Amino acid sequence: MITSRRFFWLIAGPLVALTAVGCSKKSPSIVDPHGPEAHRIASIWWLMFGLAAGVYVIVAGFILFAVVRGRRTDEGKPSRISDNTFIWWGGIIVPVAILTVLAVETVSAVSDVRKPEASPVHIEVTGKRWWWDVRYPDDNIATANEIHIPTGRPIEVGLDSDNVIHSFWVPQLAGKLDMIPGQHNVLRFKAETPGTYRGQCAEYCGLEHARMVFLVIADPPDVYDRWVARNQRTPAPPEDEAAARGEVVFTREACAGCHTIRGIQATGIYGPDLTNFGSRTSIGAVTVPNTTGNLAGWIANSQSIKPGSLMPPIALSASDLNDLVAYLESLK
Ligand code: CUA
Repeated sequence: MITSRRFFWLIAGPLVALTAVGCSKKSPSIVDPHGPEAHRIASIWWLMFGLAAGVYVIVAGFILFAVVRGRRTDEGKPSRISDNTFIWWGGIIVPVAILTVLAVETVSAVSDVRKPEASPVHIEVTGKRWWWDVRYPDDNIATANEIHIPTGRPIEVGLDSDNVIHSFWVPQLAGKLDMIPGQHNVLRFKAETPGTYRGQCAEYCGLEHARMVFLVIADPPDVYDRWVARNQRTPAPPEDEAAARGEVVFTREACAGCHTIRGIQATGIYGPDLTNFGSRTSIGAVTVPNTTGNLAGWIANSQSIKPGSLMPPIALSASDLNDLVAYLESLK
């Protein structure tokens, strides 16, 4: 026997859950689009939502009608013809029509968002364990985890992996595309509004999959051009004394074996390029904010912050650690 309260939640539950998910501001949402491609994808989401909601309301209406009416008292024979009509419409014609509309709309959207545009900004992103290697081949810039782009211009991101499969997803700007070893995929999108958009690895890739996050920072074109110019320069030798000592620590210790910093004897390729490290907002693929304390803790033992990270603990004296942190923070 269905009580009235249970019946209420049966009907209203999905709507309440959907509202709670849609209104959450904590995580980026595909229904908060900030570019033409994302708008196109969001429009399909709303179409699916509209059709599903329509079906839901009609089915719930029938259930409600059946419950309110109760069991039929007249023992008349049910008509086979009216039963068959119901099955034809509700079970075959309407579902086929809905699925056809969705199929056509989805295929046309996929072809729209993949269309190449003239003079895009080329960016190459490689999925690592567990961070993002970011390169601008036309501008000779290398960075990690924070992808700067200009608003209004088409962006073309080449996606690769040299290990397992990852998936590049920044829901407010573009669809999701896998990074597959041995296969070069290309994702195209545009950002309309300046802002910082959070991206997430969307394919389970091991222990730190959940902390494989990145940021897309969309700046007005003039701000972006200044970022490019700043990042093309080789960093000047540090003026600060502690930072200068830190540069010596960096090349003397294991750091330079895994990381590259342009202009010094550090050309490692296993870890992120640190040439502009001081200007980044986070450490460990957006695991913690880039602060002096977090940086010192990360160098001493990244395993305590991101267990499974491929960076080994680095044993340094307190003064060497301070100097090294000062040096890395000076790289802007
Ligand atoms: Cu990379 Cu999940």
